[in-house]
Order: sequence, then structure tokens, then C-alpha cells
Amino acid sequence: MRFCPAPLPQSVRTASLLLGLAAALSTNAQAPPARLGLCAACHGERGTASAKTIPNLAGQNLEYLRQAVLQYQSGARDVPAMRAASAMLNAAELDQVLQWYAAQRPEAAP
Ligand code: HEC
Repeated sequence: MRFCPAPLPQSVRTASLLLGLAAALSTNAQAPPARLGLCAACHGERGTASAKTIPNLAGQNLEYLRQAVLQYQSGARDVPAMRAASAMLNAAELDQVLQWYAAQRPEAAP
């Protein structure tokens, strides 16, 4: 493409402003959920766990994550650390965290 010294028409500038705004809004929509810290200590901010004995959650199927948490809460999966952790969030907060983890791209563990 050749360099064009003419100033951009107003419509182009408006369009790029709107694009920038949309990008800012969508970044905001992907902001980490408020209660992520309660889970991130073990499962990582982006779902890569801090230890080899803790499962990575990044990119995991959302429905699977929901079922797993229900099983910790009911005791069907008897893991005290997970029962305690999942009792500290209400259902909506928990689901926000699970949606966040499901939406992350899995990465190689450090
Ligand atoms: C103290 C460390 C710790 C904290 C904090 C913690 N977890 Fe876990 N989590 C674990 C461990 C260990 C397991 C594996 C338990 C097992 O053997 O089933 C696990 C398992 C899970 C699983 C099942 C994964 C799978 O592949 O089956 C989910 C989902 C999960 N955690 C979500 C959460 C959420 C959401 C939070 C925050 C509310 C949280 N965890 C906080 C340690 C933790």
C-alpha cells in the first residue's frame, strides 16, 4: 500500500474510534471475576495450577466444571479443600469463576 498524506475522512476516524471503544468494552467483559482469587491460589489466575497435584482448569468443558463443583459440595467427591473453597462463593460467583476458567486457553504448566 502506498503512503497517503491526506488526512483521514471524518467517517474513518469515527469508525476507528468506535472500534477502539468496542475493543475496550470486550476486554472489560473478559476481566477476571471478583472472587477469582479464592480459586487462583491453587488453580492459577488462568487455570494453570500452582502444583502438580492440582488439576488445571483452563479450557475445560464448562458443564464438566459445574458438575465437579456440585460433587464437592455434596460430598460425592470427598475433598475437604475443594468443599471449603466452593462454600466461600455464592452460586453466581462460582459460575462466573467457572466460566472464566472454561474460557481460558490451556497452556503448558511451568
Ligand atoms: C487449597 C487449594 C484449592 C483451592 C483454593 C481451590 N481448589 Fe479446586 N481443586 C483443588 C484440588 C486439589 C482438586 C482435585 C481434587 C480431586 O482430587 O478431586 C481440585 C479440583 C477442582 C475441580 C475439578 C477439576 C477436575 O478436573 O475434575 C474444580 C472444577 C475446581 N477445583 C474448582 C475450584 C474453584 C471454582 C475454586 C474456587 C472457589 C477452587 N477450585 C479452589 C484444590 C483447590
